[in-house]
Amino acid sequence: MARTGKVTVVGAGFYGSTTAQRLAEYDLFDEVVLTDIIEGRPEGLALDMNQSRPVEGFETKVTGQTTGPGGEGYEAIAGSGIVIITAGLARKPGMSRMDLIEVNAKIVRNVTENVVKHAPEAVLIVVSNPLDEMTALTAKASGFGPQRVMGQAGMLDTARFSYFVAERLGVPVSSVRTLTLGSHGDTMVPVPSACSADGKPLADLLPAAEINALVERTRGGGGEIVGLLKTGSAYYAPSAAAARMARAVAEDAGTVLPVCAWVDGQYGISGVYLGVEAEIGAAGVRRVVERDLTDSELAALREAAGAVRAKQADVAGL
Ligand code: 2OP
Repeated sequence: MARTGKVTVVGAGFYGSTTAQRLAEYDLFDEVVLTDIIEGRPEGLALDMNQSRPVEGFETKVTGQTTGPGGEGYEAIAGSGIVIITAGLARKPGMSRMDLIEVNAKIVRNVTENVVKHAPEAVLIVVSNPLDEMTALTAKASGFGPQRVMGQAGMLDTARFSYFVAERLGVPVSSVRTLTLGSHGDTMVPVPSACSADGKPLADLLPAAEINALVERTRGGGGEIVGLLKTGSAYYAPSAAAARMARAVAEDAGTVLPVCAWVDGQYGISGVYLGVEAEIGAAGVRRVVERDLTDSELAALREAAGAVRAKQADVAGL
């Protein structure tokens, strides 16, 4: 099998390291680079992942590299076609994603400046929180065209929603379709008109109150896990989503995925990074895909855009 390309994951916490592991196990890339500022952590994790290769049967090489705030070590990412930015702090119980904005803005800006120097051709996938704001900040700090910068959230929120629906109905997750747009947070916008199980509209299968309860659980899905773990936040589902996005870029797949993308006129919304469906290819976002929404879904999406736009303007100065 022909392996090709290099992908970097910045940040070797649980989210970053599981993302690196998933990418390596795809066995698609020549090399996965994992970086972190904690001395020895990325090297140790990479060594461990490489030792799993004979068992799992993949040849993608994993390279770990400690980096410094002045850009030390970033040479290791040179030539990366995709860089996934997971750097920053995760929530603790009781915190909202927005509580991380100041500290993570500084980290993400510094990382982006170093990434741009060493991987100027890369597509950037941001997962740091608060997601929509960190994606906007990365786009600004990178100077890249907005197509080359996107954030991971919609796939995760949609996956959580699908799982909750499948559990409630007692059906396989593969028979369920759901969709969330908007922000990765309070203004997440569920799209009931796009939700079905076994091809039947969700609204015909569950009463509205139950659907709303599943939506609320989805909206708080990350917080529920933070509350249970007590230290750190979710990483299995988030890393699955981020790795799939990187795979769609690497394969120039044209897959339509819910992602945080630059919206410029679609749905009558402009000038904001927002959760929407987008066709993903080698250059990043090929195009934002507009679907028919009900009046109330469209109103909720426009409201979310307004809230997120205001926060994205604040973050530009951090
Ligand atoms: C979550 O929702 C990490 O924001 C991520 O779990």
